[in-house]
Amino acid sequence: MIFKNNLLPKNLQQYEKLYKQSIDNPELFWTDVAESFIWKSKWSKVVDFDFSKPSFKWFTDAKLNITENCLDRHVEAHPDKTAIIFEPNDPNQPAEHISYRELHSRVCKFSNVLKNNNIQKGDRVCIYLPMVPELAIAVLACARVGAIHSVVFAGFSSSALSARINDASCKMVLTSDGSFRGNKTIDLKSIVDEALKDCDCVDSVIVLNRINSGITLNKNEKWWNDELDKVDDYFPAEIMDSEDPLFILYTSGSTGKPKGMVHSSGGYMVYTAYSFKNVFDYDDDDIYWCTADIGWITGHSYIVYGPLLNGATTMMFEGVPSYPDFGRFWEICEKHKVNQFYTAPTAIRALAKHPLDFVNKYDLSSLKVLGTVGEPINEEAWNWYNENIGKNKCPIVDTWWQTETGGIMITSLANVTEGKPTFATKPMMGIQPVLFDENGNEFDDNNKNGILGIKYPWPSIARTIYGDHERYKNVYFSAYPGYYFPGDGAFRDEYGNYRITGRVDDVVIVSGHNLGTAPIEDVINMHDNVVESALVGYPHDIKGNALYAFVILKDDSKKDDIEVEINKLISKTIGPIAKPEKIQLVPGLPKTRSGKIMRRILRKIASGEKDNFGDISTLLNPEIVEQIVEGSQ
Ligand code: WTA
Repeated sequence: MIFKNNLLPKNLQQYEKLYKQSIDNPELFWTDVAESFIWKSKWSKVVDFDFSKPSFKWFTDAKLNITENCLDRHVEAHPDKTAIIFEPNDPNQPAEHISYRELHSRVCKFSNVLKNNNIQKGDRVCIYLPMVPELAIAVLACARVGAIHSVVFAGFSSSALSARINDASCKMVLTSDGSFRGNKTIDLKSIVDEALKDCDCVDSVIVLNRINSGITLNKNEKWWNDELDKVDDYFPAEIMDSEDPLFILYTSGSTGKPKGMVHSSGGYMVYTAYSFKNVFDYDDDDIYWCTADIGWITGHSYIVYGPLLNGATTMMFEGVPSYPDFGRFWEICEKHKVNQFYTAPTAIRALAKHPLDFVNKYDLSSLKVLGTVGEPINEEAWNWYNENIGKNKCPIVDTWWQTETGGIMITSLANVTEGKPTFATKPMMGIQPVLFDENGNEFDDNNKNGILGIKYPWPSIARTIYGDHERYKNVYFSAYPGYYFPGDGAFRDEYGNYRITGRVDDVVIVSGHNLGTAPIEDVINMHDNVVESALVGYPHDIKGNALYAFVILKDDSKKDDIEVEINKLISKTIGPIAKPEKIQLVPGLPKTRSGKIMRRILRKIASGEKDNFGDISTLLNPEIVEQIVEGSQ
C-alpha cells in the first residue's frame, strides 16, 4: 500500500474530518498525499494558480517519472504480482497474466523502440490500438521516454483520426494490422492508411501484428516485433518536470472541433492514484476490472495509471459485453474472481434487457465494489445493478468526473460513505463543488437544482487545450470567473449529496420553467415498454421551447396507448409542464462510441432539420440518423 493510513478514511466521520482538512489547508493536505510517491526531487511550492489566466501548477519544480511509480517501485516490492490480466476477445484463448517485473521489462523495451525511432521528450505519439497489453505498454513507454501520448479510440474513423494526429502534430503512429471485436475483425491498418494521406507530420508508423492479416507494410512502417528484436530492456526513465505534459486526450465540445485536453505529470499522478485507492477500497490482493477502453479518460486514469500506481492488478478486456453472449462480463468476473467492477450505465441498461439467466449462471460472490461512470444512472438501472450483480451487498460508487478533471471528483467512497441511487453523492477529498443559480450567484441552500462549479483547483485538472489556451479559458473559466465550470447541472440534498442532472446544455426552458431532460427521461424509462429515451428541446411559438421525446420500445406491437401512458406517467411524477409536445418512436438513438446520446443531432431533427448534421462518422450507429429523420414529425 502506498498511502499512509491517516489518508484513507474508514467511515463517514473520518471522511468528514479529512475532507475538512483538505479544504481548510489544501497545501498541507496535498503535501501529505504527494509524499506517498517517489520523486527525483521535491517541489518548491505545492500549488500555484490563477483562475483568470487560467494557470494551474502543482508541485512546482518537482521532478519525477510516473512510470517509476507505476512500475519500478512495485518491481522492487512485489515483482511477481500480476500487474495486468489480459482477457482476449475470444473466450477460448487463454488469458495473459503480466507480472510487474514483466511489464517493467516490456515497457523498457518499447521505450528503446521509441528512442530508436527518434522519439524524444516532448514529441507527440498517436496510439491507435485495440485493447491489448501493447496499448498499455505503449502508453507507459511514452511516459518513460517523456513523449506525450495521444490515444485515439480505435473505433474512430479515418477523418477523426487524421484530425487528431494533425492537431497535435504527432510524429509517430502506433497501430495494429487489425482488431478483434466480437465475431468481427476490424481492419485498423486501412483506417490508418486513409488517415495518413492527410497527415504530413508523421515520420514513422509501428504496426503490431494482432490478427495475422498478412498485410505488407508501406515505406516508413515497421513491424512492432521486428523493432523489439533490436533492443534490450534497460531504459532509465527520463526525468520530467511535474508540469511537463503527460498526455493529450481529445474530448468533444459543443462545437465541432475536438478539444485536446492536456494533462500534467505530477498532479495527474497524485490525484489518480489517491482517488483510485479511496473510491474503490482496493486491497492489495484484489482483482480490479474497469470495462472502459483505454481510448477514453476512464481507461487512462482507472485502467492504467491509477491502478498501477497503487501496485494493483488491473484487467484489460479486448472484447464486447455481447460476445459470445450477453453473459460475457459475468463469465469474466467469475473466471478471474473480480473484486471491483467498474462500468457505464449504458452497458448496465443494455445487459439488463436480457434474461437474468445470463447473470445467474455465474458465481459473482467475489465482487465487493461496483462502480459506474459516464452519465447519470437512472434508478431502474441502479436497482438492477445492485440486486442482480451486487446481490445487495456491494456498495455502488457512482463516480462523476470528466476528461478535463483527470480523476473522479464526486462519488461515494466504497465502504466509507453511503451511496444513494442516482446520486454521485459527495466530493472527493480536496474537491470543492458549488452550485450557481440562473443569475450566476453561488448559493448554499440545499434541496435545490443549480449549475455546478468547482471552487479550488485540484492536482489533475487539465492544464490547457492543446494549441488553444483561449478556448480552454472560454469554455471552462469564463462563465463563472474564479471557478471551473464543468457544464453540468446538479441537485444538492439536505445531506450535501450531489445528484448530477445532466449537461447544462440539456436543460430546456419550457414556458419559463427550467427543465432538466435527464429526470424526465428517467420517468419515461420507467414505463414497462420503454427501453430508452432521449428528450430535447426545440423552438416553439408559444412556449419558447417545447420538448420532443425519442423513445425506443421493447415491444412495438404494444404501442397504441404509449403516448397517453407516457404523458400520464410524467404528469404524475414531475408535473404536466414536463410532458413532451411530441413523442417519436424510434428503432435506436444516435450514440457516441462511449455510449452517450448525441443530443446535438436530435435537437436538429426536433427542430425540423433533415440534413446538415455535421460529421456523424464518429457515431456508433450513423445509419440511425436517417431512419429517425424519416419518422420525424
Ligand atoms: C457525464 C467521463 C452523471 C457528465 C469520465 C460529464 C456523469 C461528462 C457521470 C464527462 C456520473 C460522467 N453521473 N454524469 N457519474 N460521469 N458524467 O469527459 O455530463 O467522457 O460532464 O468523462 O459525462 O464525460 P467524459
